[in-house]
Amino acid sequence: VASGFGQAQAQDYPSRPITMIVPFSAGGPTDTVTRLVAEAMGKDLGQQIVVENVGGAGGTLGAGRVAKADKDGYTLLLHHIGMATSATLYRKLPYDTLNAFDYVGLVTDVPMTLVARSDFEPKDLKGLIEYVKTNKDKVTYANAGVGAASHLCGMLFMSKIETPLTTVPYKGTGPAMTDLVGKQVDFMCDQTTNTTNQIKSGKIKAYVTTTKQRVASLPDIPTAEEAGLPGFEVGIWHGIYAPKGTSPEIIKKLTASLQKALKDPTVVQRFADLGTQPSSEADATPDALKAKLTSEIDRWAPVIKAAGVYAD
Ligand code: MLT
Repeated sequence: VASGFGQAQAQDYPSRPITMIVPFSAGGPTDTVTRLVAEAMGKDLGQQIVVENVGGAGGTLGAGRVAKADKDGYTLLLHHIGMATSATLYRKLPYDTLNAFDYVGLVTDVPMTLVARSDFEPKDLKGLIEYVKTNKDKVTYANAGVGAASHLCGMLFMSKIETPLTTVPYKGTGPAMTDLVGKQVDFMCDQTTNTTNQIKSGKIKAYVTTTKQRVASLPDIPTAEEAGLPGFEVGIWHGIYAPKGTSPEIIKKLTASLQKALKDPTVVQRFADLGTQPSSEADATPDALKAKLTSEIDRWAPVIKAAGVYAD
């Protein structure tokens, strides 16, 4: 009977609105990506996808919420590279990273920018590094908590310049950006999906991108390598997850809908305006997301251990 019921459930799925959890505050990069994709997937599936922001603990609270949700396909998670780094950063997590989720697919890989309040004295990256080293007890760096992309990028930067800094944690870089524009905090590393418009409007200044090539929508910003800091590179890949044990038929429907959403002209254009692009169809699959998560846990574990950074 159970499987029959399961079959029926999958057949008429979705028969009511779906909740997609963003593990960071509204108005930040993860929220921006999610609302664009959720809108397109909702149109395709014929049911609204309601975006719910569950911030805190660098994204691990929101991920934990989905790990414990019903496995009926009505509670999903859109999360980024932080899913991989948190597996090492946190001694105990409210979920088992590699066994608590089913995989829908990869969504996009977003570049990062090192940005500062618009009146921050340093003129370029070299000047920033000197200034930060000289004023290391005064300078403040914003991030979205241990496990956020802004935390990882900051950790890489501080390791590269061998200077630990005072960090100001937020529940997302949406609110962090408000303080950066308001000059309440000095600088941060954040995704182009959140910094592009503020850079173009002059409300914040940008030093470098963390990409091999320049970001097409930010042509005047040098890469870290061009600016003299080779190896300061990180891309923020995002994926959609469901609680482990969700029916394969439902996962298939969600993967197909994600692949369609990533070809939606509005999604493609908005991603391009914000410095990124949709994952390919081959990457918007459960196997590709699972492989990415597994390989990224292995890649970042030694880097995090070398930096000696942990959340208790
Ligand atoms: C991050 O650094 O991970 C971002 O803050 C996530 C977000 O706010 O969307």
